[in-house]
Amino acid sequence: MIGKLLNRAVIAFTLIFLLIVSLIVPLSKDTINAQSISSIWAGTFTEAQATRGETDYSANCASCHAADLRGNSNTPSLLGMSFMFIWEGRSLGELFIKIRNDMPTDRPGLLSNQSYADIVAFILRTNQFPAGENELVTDTGVLGEIIITAKPASNQETSD
Ligand code: HEC
Repeated sequence: MIGKLLNRAVIAFTLIFLLIVSLIVPLSKDTINAQSISSIWAGTFTEAQATRGETDYSANCASCHAADLRGNSNTPSLLGMSFMFIWEGRSLGELFIKIRNDMPTDRPGLLSNQSYADIVAFILRTNQFPAGENELVTDTGVLGEIIITAKPASNQETSD
């Protein structure tokens, strides 16, 4: 009799425990995602996405900006110091909109939003920004929150 009661108590306790865990775990996951998306150094795109972007970049951008992003005498470089000189302190939203609205110069708006986001991911990876768990989105509101910075601020997590 006492054994049975004890069993029930254990089961009830286990169920309540599982319920609490199932409530807390997804919440904390969301919080982590919301934090990581705000820093470019926490990983704003995936490896697979950047690799897709590389294909689209080769087909639509490399003829002017070169396969290695260094550009040429008529076209700006999208790499390293040249890239940071233009884009440091500005948001991924601005970069995305600039590319979507103006590039390729001979056929602006040619590609899908998804393809433009993939190309931004490729440009970021080539500039040594870290990949992460989630793909770069096409929502310019969300992208507008992510600032291009040269170094991680000391209070932000890094991927390495
Ligand atoms: C026909 C040549 C040409 C093609 C193709 C082209 N661009 Fe450009 N791009 C330019 C020129 C010229 C400029 C400078 C004038 C300007 O900013 O509009 C430029 C400027 C840019 C800039 C802003 C300048 C900077 O220093 O950051 C970005 C970003 C960019 N291009 C990305 C791309 C991407 C991504 C593609 C492919 C979807 C692409 N371009 C295709 C010629 C080209």
